[in-house]
Amino acid sequence: MSHLVAPSLLSADFSNLLPDIEMVNSSDADWFHMDVMDGVFVPNISFGLPVIEAVNRHTLKPLDVHLMIVNPDPFITRFAEAGANVLTVHIEACTHLHRTIQAIKAENMHAGVAVNPHTAINDLEDIIGEIELVCLMSVNPGFGGQKFIENTYRKIERLRKLIDRNGSKAKIEIDGGVGAGNAKKLVEAGADVLVAGNAVFGAEDPVDAIAQLKNP
Ligand code: DX5
Ligand code: ZN
Repeated sequence: MSHLVAPSLLSADFSNLLPDIEMVNSSDADWFHMDVMDGVFVPNISFGLPVIEAVNRHTLKPLDVHLMIVNPDPFITRFAEAGANVLTVHIEACTHLHRTIQAIKAENMHAGVAVNPHTAINDLEDIIGEIELVCLMSVNPGFGGQKFIENTYRKIERLRKLIDRNGSKAKIEIDGGVGAGNAKKLVEAGADVLVAGNAVFGAEDPVDAIAQLKNP
């Protein structure tokens, strides 16, 4: 199967989201990536449930919701109700990650685990068989438009081995600093999902930028 492309709403025009949602609808994008930040786990606050609900009313693409929040457990049902199809939590933010993953799956969402640039792939060993997605952060989370961290390629390699060794079906998603300059190399390295904020919404022709990420 060819890789998926997930434009990140974080770089959209928050004063007028509908044209950006419609642009994504009309594009080759596979998913719509939505970054929820709490100002505690990451040094930024983005948007929350009401915005996801509103986007869900207009989008034709599955919602890939990336939670950069501490203690996500009390909100899992609310994110399902808001329309999340994939719900990703950070390994660094979940004390009882196994329980959190089971709760996400109980709401019929696909479960993802995100890992920060410093977090070792080996830390996923005992959860990889339970999840549908690993989000490899290729920047330190919190902001769009940052520079891609090159060590990510080595992490993709290690993660692919871990997935194969465990017979896991988890997709490898790359989040941060992805664009036309590295998309091909990332897909060749084994990436299944490319998230892109700035490279899409900062482009003169965002539909074309998405097409280029789809066929790098
Ligand atoms: C960063 C977010 C990313 C962000 C990526 O914390 O998780 O999804 O939107 O933005 P770009 O593609 O601009 O690096
Ligand atoms: Zn993200």
